[in-house]
Formats: sequence, C-alpha cells, structure tokens
Amino acid sequence: MTVTISVGSGKGGTGKTMVVANIGLLLAKTGRRVCVVDLDLGGADIHILYGLFEPQSRLTDFLNRKVERLSDIVHTLGSFGGLQIIAGSGHTLRSANMSFQEKQRLLKGLSSLDTDVLLLDVGAGTSFHALDFFMFSDIQICVTNPEPMAIMDFYNFLQLATIRQALGGFLSQSEVSKALKERNFQTLAEVFLLAEEIQPGARERIQQALASFNPLLITNMAGSNAKINKLKLRKLVAKYLGIAIPDLGEIPYDKSVQEALRAYLPVCEHSRKSPASLALAAISAKLEKVVELFDRKRENLQPS
Ligand SMILES: Nc1ncnc2c1ncn2[C@@H]1O[C@H](COP(=O)(O)OP(=O)(O)O)[C@@H](O)[C@H]1O
Ligand SMILES: [Mg+2]
Repeated sequence: MTVTISVGSGKGGTGKTMVVANIGLLLAKTGRRVCVVDLDLGGADIHILYGLFEPQSRLTDFLNRKVERLSDIVHTLGSFGGLQIIAGSGHTLRSANMSFQEKQRLLKGLSSLDTDVLLLDVGAGTSFHALDFFMFSDIQICVTNPEPMAIMDFYNFLQLATIRQALGGFLSQSEVSKALKERNFQTLAEVFLLAEEIQPGARERIQQALASFNPLLITNMAGSNAKINKLKLRKLVAKYLGIAIPDLGEIPYDKSVQEALRAYLPVCEHSRKSPASLALAAISAKLEKVVELFDRKRENLQPS
C-alpha cells in the first residue's frame, strides 16, 4: 500500500523543493518505490534539481486531459535509483481556478499511482489548493526557516491546516468547503463554537481528528544568528491549536546546496558529506521509521 507524504510551508523559499528532491532520492535508495510529484502550481521546478530540463510530459498534460492517467506522465530516473517523478505544470496552469471536479480527478489520480511512497511537493501558502493537497496525505511535513517572520508564516499555515482538519472532524467534505467559503475562521475556538451549534458531541470528534494530525517539523537554513525556540513553539501550538508537531530535524545553511543546484544534482548526491547532506540523511532515516510505523498501524487497522 502507498504511504503519501506531503511537504508544505507558509511561505515560498523555505527549501521545500530541496527537501523533497533529496528525501525522495534517499528513500528510493532504501529500495522503496518512490514517486515524487511536483504539485507546486506556482513555481514548479523539481525536475530541474534532477537535471531533467525538458520533461516530455508534465502535470499540465493530465490536467488538460491530453493523457487520462497520471501513470502516463511518470518519468523514471534510472541514474537516481529508479526514482519516479511527475514534473509540475510550470507557470502555464490556471491553477487559481482549478475546479472542484478537476481537483478531485487529480487527487483520485494520485491515489491510483502504484508506488510505495508518494512524495508531494505542495506549493507554499494557504491557498485552498495548497492546503487541500497538503491535507490529502497520510504524513505531513512542514518546512520553515528559523527567522521570526518565517515562524509567523509557519504558524498561520499550521492554523489554517488545523482548522481544516477540525472541520473535517464533524462535517462532510462538501460542507467543509462550504463552511470555509462562507466564514473566515481565525481561531480553532471559533470552529468549536460552530461545532457546538450544529452538532452535539462534535467537540469530541474534532479532538479525535486533531489527535491524528501531527505535522512533522523541519527547520531549514538553520544558522548561528537565527535560532528557533522549538520548545516554546511546540507549547504555543499545543495550547492554541491543540496539536503536536514532532521534530523531524534541522538542516543547516550550507553553500553546497547552491553548488549542487548549479550542478543539477540533489545535494545528497553532489556532496554526500556536506553538513546539509548529513542532516538530510538523518531526516530521511527518521522519516523511514515514521513510514514504517504508519504502515504497521494501518495493517493493524485492516479487518482480517
Ligand atoms: N539548507 C540550505 N542551505 C543553503 N541554501 C538553501 C538551503 N535550502 C534551500 N536553499 C536554497 O534556497 C532556495 C529556495 O529553496 P527551494 O527548495 O526552492 O524552496 P521552496 O521550494 O520552499 O520555495 C534555493 O535556491 C535553494 O537552493
Ligand atoms: Mg518549491
């Protein structure tokens, strides 16, 4: 069965694509079948990090119905452990007005891909689409930078994702999108109020829904002058959003990331012993454990 992992963030430039490109490759090297999908509808570019400049097919071809199945636009990268990728749609996509039906078709297409790990590079931000893609997965990863402004964006992103998850605890999918369109929720407390209004016992269901939402945190471009107080952040998130954000690791600012970019290679392939590569390897090993845990949990839940 496929485990789906999405990588998102509050703002652009935090290093999501770098993280996805490297983790995808590292997981593929463990022998798993991995498919990386570039869902960053704004600045799709992950294929370039693997030196694939002119992909023969892209997500656009699926969205425009040039092909019917997502598997028709998968590229297998022989020189990267058989890693599979679906290139993003570049700047041409009318991403802002992708209809509900189009998005459902895309999500259904993703669900039908035959792979062990599906790794989604979700664009930055709190747009409806970005959040939908982010929440679609089994395991969520947030990438933030340590500066205060980035942490603020991260918090806002997490808050909206949490509100979405909370609404999903007592409303159907179409009711969730209706509620989000009609009301501008600012805090989880407002969701609780609405829940109490329309469904007795909804609070409990929300809490259950939130208990299974544990986005993993990666701090990227950590340096000596910007330190993130993770303990404080974690406490804040637990208090106001009611969720836990387990730590997946920290990646230092490292100039070899840029050098790798110029060589069109993921940094973990370009300079394996660089500080960023070592950190990415540790993160990937930790993520592997999370994936195994998830698989086991799901097996136990399967009716025998
Ligand atoms: N740890 C790092 N050290 C140095 N540069 C980095 C690091 N992580 C990312 N970068 C650089 O920052 C820029 C933004 O990264 P990218 O992965 O494209 O972010 P995002 O996908 O979140 O927009 C890129 O030029 C990338 O090479
Ligand atoms: Mg990106």
